[in-house]
Amino acid sequence: MYQKYYSQFLLAPSGAPSSMLHMACHSHHYWPDVTLDAVQQYWRESATLADDKWGPIFEEKIPAWQRAVARTLNLPDADRIAIAPNTHELVYRLLSAFDPSRPLCILTTDGEFYSFARQLHRLEEEPNVEVTRIATEPYATLAERFEQELHRGDYQLAYASLVFFDSGVVFPRLLEIAEGKPKRTEFVIDGYHAFFARPVDLGAVADKVFFTAGSYKYLGAGEGMCFMSIPANCSLRPLNTGWFAELAELENRADRVGFADNWLRFAGATMDYSPLYKGLAVFDLFEREGITVEKIHNYVLAAQERFLRTMDTAAHPLLNRDNLIQHDLQNGHGHFFTFRCGTAAQSEQLQQELRSRGVLCDRRQQLLRLGFAIYHKADENYRQVFG
Ligand SMILES: Cc1ncc(COP(=O)(O)O)c(C=O)c1O
Repeated sequence: MYQKYYSQFLLAPSGAPSSMLHMACHSHHYWPDVTLDAVQQYWRESATLADDKWGPIFEEKIPAWQRAVARTLNLPDADRIAIAPNTHELVYRLLSAFDPSRPLCILTTDGEFYSFARQLHRLEEEPNVEVTRIATEPYATLAERFEQELHRGDYQLAYASLVFFDSGVVFPRLLEIAEGKPKRTEFVIDGYHAFFARPVDLGAVADKVFFTAGSYKYLGAGEGMCFMSIPANCSLRPLNTGWFAELAELENRADRVGFADNWLRFAGATMDYSPLYKGLAVFDLFEREGITVEKIHNYVLAAQERFLRTMDTAAHPLLNRDNLIQHDLQNGHGHFFTFRCGTAAQSEQLQQELRSRGVLCDRRQQLLRLGFAIYHKADENYRQVFG
């Protein structure tokens, strides 16, 4: 029922349905057809308006994107949503706001995405930085262990994913933990695997946390458009600051660099805005067609149930309940399943086997990930996966 929005990917040039089953959608979603016109519109406006395109971009398009993100996450203040081509830039800008001459203690988990994990390893080489990583497993006690440590230690920064990229498991009670955080701790939620997949209501924590995500995954608008919501009354002064931050009405300080009390505090510099046009086109499409995150999530939950039913009868040596990483499959999971394959070689072999059956998926070492999307057929039974 949703396939009609993705005809360029799901139909062969003859118009016949493609036999490929795209299950790498947690890595990146197919882009709905409307994004093609959006890219062309960006090109046309760049060609015809030249420098005059910047007015509409800053006065209309960016605010429209911020409002759409705010609506999706129930954020009260769209003007506090900073944008950048990737989340790494935003997170690193935030990290640069901590005084390098003072101790920086960071609490996180051992399940964070490479972008942050690698950066932390490098930062740890500095004498002032100390990192505590809470093991994500067992997931059943993660919330309790993380929360206890958050209040026990003296952390300037806490950072955790809402849905873990390696397992698809939701961090239990993360929003509640963030709401009760100590005042001294800045709190970042990496929401990339939740944004536009699971319904997320940040209403109660919006004034306290940073929340990062982007358009590449579940929104289906391609790479290049990420965001970070900023808590209320943020007075951090990033050392890494770009000239776009200058566009604000700055605090009137002659002696030092000024910062705005809105998203421009975390602004960088010139970027390509075609992903902004694509993102807006997707938001418009879903709004026009009444496709909400709740509907998307329910569609995927039903798909996951059909997958599990087929799997339970298939007796596959690797794709089975024993190897599936799970914690509360019904309520506590993102839009992909991860299977432990024993070794990286085995998962690579399985990935190739699936590819030969027309199933596209991805893997991280021994972990094989299979994702679900609204462009899968409403009655898809996933038999193609099991051979
Ligand atoms: C949990 C998570 N956060 C962030 C990212 C993307 O990071 P970046 O925008 O820095 O490339 C990914 C990408 O796969 C991810 O899985």
